Amino acid sequence: MLRIEKLTKAFGQNVAVDAANVEVDKPQMIGIIGRSGAGKSTLLRMLNRLTDHTSGAIHFEGQEITALKGAAKREWQSQCAMIFQQFNLVPRMDVVSNVLHGTLNRRSTLATLFNLYPTEDIHRAIDILDRLGIAEHAPKRAEALSGGQQQRVAIARALMQNPRIILADEPIASLDPMNAQVVMQALRRIHEEDGRMVIANLHTLDTARRYCDRVIGMRAGRIVFDADPSKLTTSMAREIYGAGAEFSESATSTEIETLDATEKAKMEAEAYV
Ligand SMILES: Nc1ncnc2c1ncn2[C@@H]1O[C@H](COP(=O)(O)OP(=O)(O)O)[C@@H](O)[C@H]1O
Ligand SMILES: [Mg+2]
Repeated sequence: MLRIEKLTKAFGQNVAVDAANVEVDKPQMIGIIGRSGAGKSTLLRMLNRLTDHTSGAIHFEGQEITALKGAAKREWQSQCAMIFQQFNLVPRMDVVSNVLHGTLNRRSTLATLFNLYPTEDIHRAIDILDRLGIAEHAPKRAEALSGGQQQRVAIARALMQNPRIILADEPIASLDPMNAQVVMQALRRIHEEDGRMVIANLHTLDTARRYCDRVIGMRAGRIVFDADPSKLTTSMAREIYGAGAEFSESATSTEIETLDATEKAKMEAEAYV
């Protein structure tokens, strides 16, 4: 389905991603871990062609992604929506308009200029917000929402594109543990129910373990681990993070607190009406 071959990105002398090979044959939920500077963001950005690669190739279902130009490249970018740590919403714009922005690359400049959205798109945007448990916030300005709600708006905007793949670059790094859990559950659900591939850079081990079917560990631009989370032993984690004997799990994990059952049920009810 997705094949990354010897994918390399150099910034001058600095090799950010070094001959990465990844093969994905069904839509999985993949977590990428590694310390800061390991090349995680660069890898994601090459996947959706925000950053040009230096050498190697990316193939998706027979198409060479790394060779796409112009309209074909934009079409690919709409197929693999990106979610960022800082949400990247338009803060002063209302939530539903932010979500409708997800349809931008298939609308005419004129329609965009005058903020004209087809009624069916507006309905779809509301439905997606509803699915993520935030439809009631649709008319509010994005900036009025909490971080966790804003990240769900960003996910809704991504879903508006009906993407095959969702790329998330540290989607929960700015969130408190409770919101982090809601956002990860939303991504997991989108993966399971819609069959979309999700690839997320995660700054904590425990999140990768808890939510992903597969974990890729990067160190200094290289993929040093690629397996299911059960294989992610402490000594393996130590190798990925390059830590010495003093390494401890807590050093890389801001533990998502284990909520008691009632709290969790309440939160889920609120999140997915
Ligand atoms: N636009 C850029 N220009 C120059 N160097 C960059 C750029 N983006 C990333 N790098 C470098 O590439 C390496 C990998 O960075 P990055 O992919 O952001 O790592 P991570 O997301 O794992 O923290 C780092 O050494 C970083 O300094
Ligand atoms: Mg990064």
